[in-house]
Amino acid sequence: MYVQHCVCVLFWLCVCAVVTLLSGVLSSDGTVLTVPSGENRAERDPPSPPEVRCWSPSYPFKALCSWPEPPQTQLPIQYIATYSMKGGEIQQCHPYPTSVHPLPSPESSLPGVNGSSPGARWLCVLKGLKLYTSYKLNITGVNRMGSASHLQAFTVEDIVKPDPPVNVTVQVIPGKLRLLVKWAPPPSWSDHTLFPLKYQVRYHWDNKGTPHEITLDPFEDTKKVLPGLSPERSYLVQVCSMELMGLGQSSDWSLPITVTIPAH
Ligand SMILES: *[C@@H]1O[C@H](CO)[C@@H](O)[C@H](O)[C@H]1NC(C)=O
Ligand SMILES: *[C@@H]1O[C@H](CO)[C@@H](O)[C@H](O)[C@H]1NC(C)=O
Ligand SMILES: *[C@@H]1O[C@H](CO)[C@@H](O)[C@H](O)[C@H]1NC(C)=O
Repeated sequence: MYVQHCVCVLFWLCVCAVVTLLSGVLSSDGTVLTVPSGENRAERDPPSPPEVRCWSPSYPFKALCSWPEPPQTQLPIQYIATYSMKGGEIQQCHPYPTSVHPLPSPESSLPGVNGSSPGARWLCVLKGLKLYTSYKLNITGVNRMGSASHLQAFTVEDIVKPDPPVNVTVQVIPGKLRLLVKWAPPPSWSDHTLFPLKYQVRYHWDNKGTPHEITLDPFEDTKKVLPGLSPERSYLVQVCSMELMGLGQSSDWSLPITVTIPAH
């Protein structure tokens, strides 16, 4: 009898506990409370690590790092960008948003993050860099759910990428089947005496529907004569710049200029 009574009390205690637990899940009208669904996920997520690209259009003292603005559906993110050389003090680089795409064309064709407007990117400028020195970069996105870092080691030599030459002009040389191409070095480059640039010219034409292209070997002059052209044919001319020793990457090609050789 005593044992039965005890079991009975335990049973009701258990029922009581289960009902208490369930009432936490069941709302007053008995329907199951909705658990936040997938559509609001981004609202609760920490940021993803930023997809950072760095390049130096003004070797050796300055470099730029850029990453896409995340989609508007995510929580607001603040970025902390720091860089330091081994054993050196940590320097801040202050990121700012740019609406105009700061990157030359190949990067601009990179897939952006879905939902972000094309060209909305963050940019930060790394200054006072030293030659042949390894740096550590840390770009961390922080929102109220957490943070994520992009960590990268680089030397400025690895990431050299000049801007394209400017003021490119193409002139027909009268009476000759030649074009004179001239340009000015990219003004963003830091020092043309200590760190000279070299250039390449490429030209395209179309012959009865077949495209042709010639790219000349690199040279230091800022003009070039293109010989052996055909009358009444149109040529599309572009110029790029690169560091004289071949560090890093060439610039993007300048915007094409089309010139037609007159009839002889
Ligand atoms: C962006 O969206 C397209 C289709 O809308 C999808 O195919 C692609 O995988 C998405 N890219 C990323 C990075 O989410
Ligand atoms: C990167 O920077 C963030 C924010 O300053 C910091 O919390 C994190 O520890 C750093 N990561 C490394 C590996 O230094
Ligand atoms: C390019 O041309 C403009 C207009 O003629 C001139 O003001 C500018 O100085 C030139 N830039 C360079 C780098 O020569």
